[in-house]
Formats: sequence, C-alpha cells, structure tokens
Amino acid sequence: VLVLDTVANKHSEGYSLSVDKKSIRISGADEAGVFYGLQTLLQLLPEEVYRNRLAGQIKWVVPGVQIVDHPERPWRGMMLDVARYFYDKEFVKKFIDMMAMYKLNKLQFHLIDDSGWRLEIKKYLRLTEVGAWAGPDSRRLGGYYTQDDIREILEYARLRQVEVIPEIEFPAHMLSAVVAYPWLGCTGKQHEVPDQHFISRDLLCVGKESSLQFLRDVLDETVRLFPSSYINIGGDEAVYTRWEECPDCQKVMKREGLKKASELQGYLTNVVAEMMKEKNRTVVGWEEIFLRGDVKTPVVGLIWHNVRGTLLATQRGHKAILTPATHMYFDFPESRTPGEVKAATWMPPISLEKCYSMEINDYSPESTVLGVQGCFWSDQFIYCTVMHEIDYLNENRSENYSEYFTFPRLWALAEVAWCRQSDRNYADFRRRLSHHFNRLDFKNCHYRVPEPVIEQMDPTATGAIEFTLSPAVADADIRYTTDGSYPTVHSPLYTTPVTVDDKSDFRAITVINPR
Ligand code: ACM
Ligand code: ZN
Repeated sequence: VLVLDTVANKHSEGYSLSVDKKSIRISGADEAGVFYGLQTLLQLLPEEVYRNRLAGQIKWVVPGVQIVDHPERPWRGMMLDVARYFYDKEFVKKFIDMMAMYKLNKLQFHLIDDSGWRLEIKKYLRLTEVGAWAGPDSRRLGGYYTQDDIREILEYARLRQVEVIPEIEFPAHMLSAVVAYPWLGCTGKQHEVPDQHFISRDLLCVGKESSLQFLRDVLDETVRLFPSSYINIGGDEAVYTRWEECPDCQKVMKREGLKKASELQGYLTNVVAEMMKEKNRTVVGWEEIFLRGDVKTPVVGLIWHNVRGTLLATQRGHKAILTPATHMYFDFPESRTPGEVKAATWMPPISLEKCYSMEINDYSPESTVLGVQGCFWSDQFIYCTVMHEIDYLNENRSENYSEYFTFPRLWALAEVAWCRQSDRNYADFRRRLSHHFNRLDFKNCHYRVPEPVIEQMDPTATGAIEFTLSPAVADADIRYTTDGSYPTVHSPLYTTPVTVDDKSDFRAITVINPR
C-alpha cells in the first residue's frame, strides 16, 4: 500500500514503512518520501531484486519491520564532470539510477569546461559544433547532449526524485566557448579546445555587451530546458590577468568603483543572480561566487576548500553545500597501495573511512548548511589516460573506472548526507558493505573492492616478515600470492598468517561474495 500522508510524516522526503504478515505499507510525506520508502523496501528484499531480468529460484521474503525515517538535510548531491570526458546519455541515466538507489537527490551536471561544451544551445550552435570536440578531425574526441537528450535525461531523473542542476561555468573554465566564439574573450584570440588537462586564463570578457548578451541568451535557453529550482554558474578558479589587461573590463571596473579585477566576478554574479531571481531560480556555484566582491543577492556556495567557507557564507547572508576536496572529491585515489589506479594527486588519498568520517559539525554554523555533495571530476579521463597504464586489467573504458572511483565512496556520502552525525558508526557501516557490493553486481555497476587490512607485519628471527590480515568487508575471502604476482580468485585462500622473505613479494586481494 502506497500512500501520501503529510500529517503523519512531518519531515519532507520522510516516510514510514511497515511490514507485517498481511501487508507492506509505505506512507510518504511527499512523492520523494514514498520513493525512498520503496528504496528501503528493495534493500529488504533478496539482492537479486536489482537484476534487470527475471531471477528464478528466489524466495521473495521481506522481514517484518517498522521504519520511520527522514533525511537530515535537503541537499544530497553528486557532481558528474561530463565536460572533461563525455559520458553518453545512457551512462548519465545509469549514474542517476545509482544515486537514486541511495537516496541522493541533486545531480550537479558539470556541462562546461575548458575541454568541452556539452549542452546544445540553439542560438549558438558553434558551442557544440566546435566547442564539444578536441583533437585533429580524423581522431577527434568529445560529444554533446542535444536538447532532446537533455529532456530524456531530465524525465528519467524526475521519476527517480533527482533534480538535475545544469552548471554553466563562467567566467573561467569555459575556453571551449571562447574557441567557438573568440569574441567572448578579452583578446579575441583564436584558441583550440585542449586535449589534456588545462585551466585556461581566458575568461569571459565582462566589459563587452556582446559577451553579457551571450550569457543572457545561454542562461535563457538553459532555464527553458531545465526546470530545476537551482541554476549553477560555476565560478571557480578564475585568474584575473586578462581582465586586468582589458580596456573594456577596466572601464566597467571604473564605472562600478571597483578596486580589484577580482571584484568584477562579484559584479557579474550580482548581474546573473538578479536575472535568475526574475525567473524564480536560485544561483548556486563554487564558493568563489560569494568570495569575490560584494554579492548582494543571496546565493548558495559549494564549499570545496575548508571549513572557513561556511562561516564566510553565513557572515555574508548566503547558504552552503559541503563538498570538501579533502573528503568528497572522488577523483582522488582511495589509497597509496601499489597497483592503485592513477588519480588526482593534489590532495592525499581519500579512503572510504575518511570519506565516511566527514563531520558536518565542523562546518559551523550548521543552519547555513543545506547539505553535502560528492564531486566526480573527470580530468583523469581525458583521452582515457588512466586505463592504458594497467596491463593486467586490460580495461580501457572510462565509464567503468568512473564507477570504480564512485563506489563504495558514494555509500559513505549517502549516509553522511542523510543521517544525523550521532547515528553514524563506521564499524556498523563496514559490516553492511558486502550486501551492497552484491547489489552493484546485479546492477552491472563497477566498484573498487577494499583491500585487505594489514593487522600486523612482524619481522621473524630469520629476517623474514609475517603478515596478519583481516578482511575489509565482512564475510569476504582474502586470496594472496608470495611471488609478487597479482592474485586472482584462484590464488591460495588466506586462513592463517603468511611469512615471506621480502615484503614486496606478498600481495593480497579481497574477494567479495565467494558464494
Ligand atoms: C574545483 O575543484 N575547481 C571546484
Ligand atoms: Zn575584457
């Protein structure tokens, strides 16, 4: 029985689920609440329920339960960077599906960056005819979403309670647009779409009416296409030398009484935030949008540097979403273990435990915090550079690696974003992992398998080393080798401590679900 009951369910997106001998009843505060009740019900069923074909020989049993649940905060997000690497719409839909399964509700769709413009804009077709492609003609890489593709993605997301928020990046990270229309920049110079990771200094010129009109037109089309209550305007990592050198930008600075070129970004944010307010949309962007200049219209900042961002947002009358690069950037590796994939390096690795340990309380005041978001950047995937370097995996599909980076950390994000901090417990989380790996298997979704935990590494009397391991996932097997080769599911099963002469000869893997 599925019902909407706004009286019994006090919190938006909340639900209650009761299972007894006679019935299964889900009561939601709203449609999202009913949907989340269904997600919980699916988790109570045998894992095969996630298969996309009939599963025979299964006894479909649900335990008797009484569950009353609601999320602590309204924003439980993921960012997908489709600009550095173009994921087709089928992958995007799968990504949304996986988010919804874990009750995440906001997808920040990073559609634009220096290395690609992925959103068809009818008024400026060169954005995608030119700006969506990198490399020489015969071997060019890239792609974009037509407006029909976007509508298809949006409908898919709507049915799964995911709000897709388009990110239209400016003034930096938009070289792809400047390549398509050089008059958008301060210098008018013709550039190329980069085919390697690159952060351009060519910004949108604030001083030319033509570039402001471009911004108006692009945002108009974007707003017509996306019904989201938020519009993301990017805003990160601008370097202001072009604005300092541009006579047109300098004129605006003088006219507006600004002292530093960086304050022009605040000026631009005000202009756009007002435009969006007229259309009943709220501007969200990286924390730079409220840190550069005096931004009067309240906006929402994605706090990606450190805890201070929340305080500054509060002092200036804005809201915050926590997406700290230290805990929630999934393009960093999980470990320094030999064999770990190549990944971003400008921060230390982010283990599953570290991701799970993010403390919202650190980001005070909490009343400013709308929620938490994970970011999956794809700059490691431009031209598939990651995959070719790992011979034994023979893997060259970036999509599979994206899932590998995303899971299991997305589960940690899901609990950080949904639960009260006092209800979180890493040991308990770890105990529950193995069931979720099985679910991902049935969904054909890839993931990183946590490596076995080294409990002890003891030198012996003869100068050898004795390894004592424990499984990182409850009920998982450990398989190992002692000749430096990569273990497989057929390698010896670990049961007691193993001694090797040279510690680099010892390799061990976790084998999940050894049924
Ligand atoms: C960012 O990582 N540049 C937001
Ligand atoms: Zn300029």
